[in-house]
Order: sequence, then structure tokens, then C-alpha cells
Amino acid sequence: MKTVLLIIIIIFFTGILEAQTIWLDELDLTSMQCGWGTPEANKSVEGNPLTLAGQKFERGVGTHAVSTLLLNLDGKGKQFTAFVGLDDEVVDGNGSVKFFVVGDKKILWESPVMKKGDKPEKVNLNLDGIKLLGLLVGDADDWIDYDHADWCDAKIEFTSKRTPDELVVKTAIEPYILTPKPSDSPKINGAKVFGVRPGNPFLYTIAATGKRPMTFSAENLADGLSLDEASGIITGQIMKAGERNVTLIAKNEIGDAKRELRIKVGNQISLTPPMGWNSWNCWACAVDDAKVRESADAMVSSGLINYGWTYINIDDCWEIKPDAKEPELQGELRDKNGMINTNKKFPDMKALADYVHGKGLKLGIYSGPGPLTCAGFTASYQYEFQDAQRYADWGIDYLKYDWCSYSKIAKDRSLPELKKPYQVMRDALSKVPRDIVYSLCQYGMGKVWEWGEEVGGNCWRTTGDITDTWSSMSGIGFNQAGHEKYAGPGHWNDPDMLVVGLVGWGPQLHPSNLTPDEQYTHISLWSLLCSPLLIGADMSRLDDFTLNLLTNDEVIEINQDPLGVQARRIYDEDGKQIWMKEMEDGSKAVGLFYPDLGEKKEPEKYFNWGEKKSAKIILKGNDLGISSKFTVRDVWRQKDLGVFENVFETEVPYHGVVLIRLAEAK
Ligand code: GLA
Repeated sequence: MKTVLLIIIIIFFTGILEAQTIWLDELDLTSMQCGWGTPEANKSVEGNPLTLAGQKFERGVGTHAVSTLLLNLDGKGKQFTAFVGLDDEVVDGNGSVKFFVVGDKKILWESPVMKKGDKPEKVNLNLDGIKLLGLLVGDADDWIDYDHADWCDAKIEFTSKRTPDELVVKTAIEPYILTPKPSDSPKINGAKVFGVRPGNPFLYTIAATGKRPMTFSAENLADGLSLDEASGIITGQIMKAGERNVTLIAKNEIGDAKRELRIKVGNQISLTPPMGWNSWNCWACAVDDAKVRESADAMVSSGLINYGWTYINIDDCWEIKPDAKEPELQGELRDKNGMINTNKKFPDMKALADYVHGKGLKLGIYSGPGPLTCAGFTASYQYEFQDAQRYADWGIDYLKYDWCSYSKIAKDRSLPELKKPYQVMRDALSKVPRDIVYSLCQYGMGKVWEWGEEVGGNCWRTTGDITDTWSSMSGIGFNQAGHEKYAGPGHWNDPDMLVVGLVGWGPQLHPSNLTPDEQYTHISLWSLLCSPLLIGADMSRLDDFTLNLLTNDEVIEINQDPLGVQARRIYDEDGKQIWMKEMEDGSKAVGLFYPDLGEKKEPEKYFNWGEKKSAKIILKGNDLGISSKFTVRDVWRQKDLGVFENVFETEVPYHGVVLIRLAEAK
């Protein structure tokens, strides 16, 4: 009897010793999705002490809506406790969030809508039998601005031993590569039509895949242009307006390829959506001259240049920052002639532009119509003409012009006030002898798509900032329906930059939080939408999966089609969507998507519960205006699927896409 009692006592105490507590701040937070910035252990999302309604917390996790974290409790959880709320760091009167705790797809707890200064809500939950636990911060249905949310003193008690590593659920689906390797024979890619203004410097690099060495030549090259045989870089200037048809030729030991390039010398540039890289989504303010050069190098060494990727765009943080603490950002904002200065991270912008041009690429820069940029650096207010002149002197090819502090200058948000500053910079750019792509960035205010072309924009952001979460990317991408009538050659809708590869708003980076299927959706949708394609990744560390996303010539061809017709949504039911884009050759590019967005977003829909879901999507030729038989090609796999009569059906992965090209069968 005594022995039995002893055994029971031993088992009891071993149980207690094994039972343990894991704090949220001990977990690897790279799998936590966050609508802006990066989640922080024991700090707010902006790196301040966690503070709710004046009360400071030593421990917890600071994040930003929409934020999710899925934890594998394996039925061993006992209790979850935390205090939650909106962090005091946000500007008064801004931000509102709602917290949810979801267990095995059921809502276990939800907070009221929480604003700054609200007393922290206490969570105290029994976790008996729960296998997967989801923590969600939603935006309380009013968009995510200022939604800095804290899980304070958050911890889980377990009935038996668990380690922080076992708890974190990593992306369930392994990356899978669809893009076939290019053939060794030459193939010419990139834009088939190119706009330039008379007399302005001309730069176009023939993009071609195939075995190296390769030599390039051209038939009927326009007067004033010359072609470098080894690199395929065409430079010079054409003085007279009009259209020139040039035949480009790429040759290697296996054979040659020929393709027409239509050069339109006139008033329009950006006849196909700009393709390139922008520093913001990876480096943010950690960008410097070396990183820009490294990105240009990588654009060439990775082979991306062979697909038409061209622009290397510096975003915010290259200028002097008034009141900066960092010595490298300090200095005179402008010289005595009012010409803008760079900060010490960019010692010689002209030399940088020469370097980038030498590789056959183009250099972009960033400013805004207000006194300061979004990150608080010098912007163009009242120096628009000097700035345009400066950009031209340096050899800048692209300007992203970001509203931000112009809020303080504008009298109100009326249309004339929204248009005015963009018109001023347009006039300035038009006076300089250089083709500078003009990218408006004002997050879609005043339905900018309706007047972006009128103020001379080559593209305009239609949304707030993208981040590498499903809710952000899908929320933006699938919201573009109806904008198609405003896009066309020289003027494009811009649903923001790509969030693939290593991103993170620097200096710390992480792999995109989008699943592989979500990334295929991202690139397919942006291509169908004729969106500018600006890679937001660390270019020097592109993995095979990311390269596969960015080097599919048939996908890029959809984006770069000379007709420039943006896809429209032709079907939206039961969580399935079909988008269709008319192509110049009469064929149609069609994306069959299964975003499963739902009427309203139920909290459990934010999590990937590990089930492999897919949906059958049926496409009818009639819906596309095709009455006869049609051929179908799988664009990502670059495979013909056969001839179909009126109906094509296919299985589409959850959050994924099947991208096809259809043509009437002969
Ligand atoms: C805004 C823009 C971003 C980026 C930053 C730079 O948020 O929307 O794309 O340019 O400013 O500060």
C-alpha cells in the first residue's frame, strides 16, 4: 500500500516539474504575421516599452494589425493568460483593433474594439484539448492605420513539457518550382514597344535568355542610336518624332533569335509597366550606395536582366534629415542654389547613376511634394524645379513622389488640392531633357486612378502600403476590380511593390510570410493587372523559388503585353475568382484564383489550419466571348493543355492560382 502511495506521489511531482510555462516573447516570432513593421519581443512594434493605458509591461509581444500567430499545443495546453490593448505609442485618436483567440477554428475569446487609452483587457482561457491555437489582431474593420497592438504578459501553461520550438507552426506548404529552365537557344524577352521623347537620352537593353557568350545586333536601327554588340545595350538619342521598327537579333553558338521592337518617339514613355527593384520593402532606411550597387550587380548576375527587369529604385532616406541624430544623415539640406544634397550614405549620386547605366539598367529616386518625406527626410516643397533639374543632372530615370507631409500644406482633401502638387512636379519634370518615369504615391486618395493620367503620372499607387501577409496582399490585389478602365500604355495603376524573397523593412530581413501558393497568386495577379513590377527583396540573396517567380518569360509577357489592357474580374463566387486580360495577339490571359476571401472575414479564415484545400473552377468560353473551340496553355508550367470546347475546368489550390492563356483553336 505504502509503495503504491509513493508511486502516486512521485508521478504527481514529476508531472508538476514537467508542466511548464512558455511566454509568447520566448517564441521565434518570424512566423508571426504583422500588417506593418516586424513583431518585437518585450517591445512595441516601434521598439518602445510595451505600454497600455499608461501601464508598462516588461514582457510580451508588440505587433501590428492584421497580425496572426498559430501555435501547435498538441492538446497539452492548460491555460493562456495575457493583457491586450492598443499601445500608447500611437498618435492620439488613431487606431482601433480587435483581438481574437481561436482554438481549432472556434473563437475562444474576443476583445471589444480597443482604442488608445482603453484599460487592458485580461485574457484567461482554459486550453483543455486544444490542438492548434491562433492569436489574431484584426483591424476592427477600419483599415490598419496606427493599429499597434500588444499581447502583454502573454504566456501558456502546459500539462507536460513543451519547448518553444515545438510550438511554432511554420508554413505548411514547401516551396515548389513551376517555371521551366530557359533553353540554351537565344530567346528575346522584355518590352516589345518602347517610348522615348525626341532628343532625350535613350537607353534600352536587349533582354535575352540563352547560352553565353551571346552577340547582339539590330536591323534598321534608328538614326542616332548605337548598339553594343557584347551587352545588347542600345544608347543614343533620336531627334525626330515618329515610329521606328527595329529588328533585334541575339545570336550564340546554337542559333539566333529575332524580334521586332517598336520605338515610339513622341510624348509618351512607360508604354509597358515599369519592371525593376525598389529598396523600401527590404532595406527601408537602411539603404545606402553599396546596397544599391549590389542590387544592380545582382540584377545582372541572377539573370533577371535577361527578362526585362530594368529599374533600380532608391526609395526614402537618401536625403539629409533635418534634426537627425545620426551623423551620416546630418548636413545642409540644399546648396546655395537650392539644389538638394544627399546624405553621407550616398556620397556621389551621379557616379551611382553612371554605374547603374553602365550595366544597362536605370536608376530611380524618391521624394515628395511636402517639406519632408514620410521618413522625415528633405522633400521637394517649393524646390520642385531645382529637384527635377538635379535628378536630370544626376541621370535619374524614375521618380516616386510621395504625398506624406503635404498633408500639412494642402488646405483640404478636395480634388484640386490633391492634384496640385502632382501637377507642379509634372511641369518641372517636363522641362528637363530626360525621360523620368513619374510615379504618384498618395495611397489612392480622391480616386487617383480617375485623374492620375490627367496630371501626367505614369503610374499611381491605388492603395496604402503593402506588407508580406496574406490579408495585406490579397486585400489589395483582389480590390483592384473596376480600375481597369483607367490603365493603358504610359499610365498604370500601381497596387504597390512585390513582397517576395527576403523582405523586412531593414536592416533585419525575413523570408516573405506569404505561402508559395500565395506568392504565385501575387505575381500572377500583378501581371494580369499590368501593375508596375518592383521587386521588394534583398537582390543579393534571391533563392531558387523567388527566382522561379520572377523569371517566367510567359508570365512577364502577360504584364508587358503592348496592348496594355488591365485584367478585369469576370467571376466572383464561393471564394473563387476569375480575372481576364485581353492580349495584343487576340488571345486571353486568365487567372483562376481561390482566395476564399468570404463575405466577411471570419477570424478562423486568417489561419492556415494545415488542411490541403483546393477548389474546382469552371471557365466557360462564352464568358470570354469565345464561341468556338479554344486551346489552353498553362502559363507557369509553360505546357499546352489541349483543345477544349466551351468548358475548361481545373483544380485550384487554396490561396493559389492556375494561370492560363487561351486562344481560339484554328
Ligand atoms: C510611404 C510609401 C512607401 C514608402 C515609404 C517611405 O509609406 O507608401 O511605399 O515609400 O513612405 O517612407
